[in-house]
Amino acid sequence: MTLALTHVTKRFGNTVALDDISLTVERGEFICFLGPSGCGKTTLLRIVAGLELAEEGTVTLDGRDLSETPARKRNFGVVFQSYSLFPNMTAARNVGYGLECRKRPRAEIEARAAEMLRVVALSDHAHKLPSQLSGGQQQRVALARALAPDPDVLLLDEPLSALDAKVRESLRLEIRDLQKRLGITTIMVTHDQEEALTMADRIVVMDTGHIAQVGTARELYDRPASKFVAEFIGRMNVLPLDGGRFAGRPVALPEERQGAKLIGIRPEDVRLHAGAAAAGEGLLPAKLRNIVYLGNLAHLVLDVEGADNDIVAEIPGHAFRELANAPQIAVELPRETIKVLE
Ligand SMILES: Nc1ncnc2c1ncn2[C@@H]1O[C@H](COP(=O)(O)OP(=O)(O)O)[C@@H](O)[C@H]1O
Ligand SMILES: [Mg+2]
Repeated sequence: MTLALTHVTKRFGNTVALDDISLTVERGEFICFLGPSGCGKTTLLRIVAGLELAEEGTVTLDGRDLSETPARKRNFGVVFQSYSLFPNMTAARNVGYGLECRKRPRAEIEARAAEMLRVVALSDHAHKLPSQLSGGQQQRVALARALAPDPDVLLLDEPLSALDAKVRESLRLEIRDLQKRLGITTIMVTHDQEEALTMADRIVVMDTGHIAQVGTARELYDRPASKFVAEFIGRMNVLPLDGGRFAGRPVALPEERQGAKLIGIRPEDVRLHAGAAAAGEGLLPAKLRNIVYLGNLAHLVLDVEGADNDIVAEIPGHAFRELANAPQIAVELPRETIKVLE
C-alpha cells in the first residue's frame, strides 16, 4: 500500500512538534525516520497510526483519507520499544491477540499464531510467558503479533533500542529480511544512524519537527544537503572558508561552487602526505595531535597550521605505519571529495 503524508503539522502547547511534513512511502518500501531525540519521530509515527491527531494535514492510504478512521480500524501493525506484551498470556496467545479481538474462529487464531511464531523462529517457545523469554525473543513475539492480522502497513518505534548490541544486529537483518519477504510497507523510527543505514530503502532525516533530507543511505552519505545531515550520517570534517581559503590557503572547489562558505570532507577522503611529498601546492602543513590505532584502520587528528579546526583523517593501518614517524605531514583535500554545505 502507498502511504502519503501531506502538510502534517502538530503542536503541543507552544512546541511545534511537526512543521508541515509531506512524504510518500511507496508500496513495499522500508522507510526509516531518523533523527535526534525530541525531533518528532514518534509523534509522526503516532499520527500515521491514528494514535495522535494532526492539527493540519492528511494521511492517506492508496489515496483514501484516514482522518476519520480510528487507530483500531486502520489495520496497521505496531511495535514499540518496550515489548508491551501481555505478561499473563503465552507467546502464542499474545500473537493471536489481534485476531481474537477481531472475533476470528479459535482454530484460525491458533493456526495463524503457530504460523507467525514459525516465521520469527519461536515455535519452540509458543507456551512460554513473556517473563520466560529473552528481550530479543519478546521483541520477535511483538513483531509476530503485529504481523498476525496481515496488516496493510507495519509501524515500528525504536523496536531494537532496548536490546543489547549483538541481538540488535541479528534482529536488524531478520526484520529486514522478513519485511522484504512479506513485501509489507514499513516505517521504522530510530535515532541510530547505523540501524537506519542497514535496514531502510530510504531514510527520512528529521531535525526539530521538519524533514532535513530524504534519500537512500548512499545519497545521504555522498550528497548531504546540509551540515546537520552531513554530521548526523557518518562523520564529517566541517570547515569554514574565508574567500575560498581555509587556514589562509586556497581550497580547490568545483567551478560552480566558488562562493562556498562551508565545506565538508569525510575522514576517509582526507589524503595525507609525508616527508618530501609534504611540501607541495594545495597542501596544508599539519602536526599529528592524536592517534587512534585500530589495526586495520587509524584515526588521526591533525592540527593544521594556521587553522582553528582540527581535521580528522581515517587511513588504512598499513599506511599509518609508514606515516607515524614522518617529521612532516601535509593534508590534501581532494577537490572531487569536497561537499559544499549550505
Ligand atoms: N504528549 C505530549 N505533550 C507535550 N509535548 C509532547 C508530547 N509528545 C511529544 N511532545 C514533544 O514533541 C516533541 C517531539 O517528541 P517526539 O515525537 O517524542 O520525539 P522523538 O520521538 O523524535 O524523540 C518533543 O519536543 C516532545 O517533548
Ligand atoms: Mg521517540
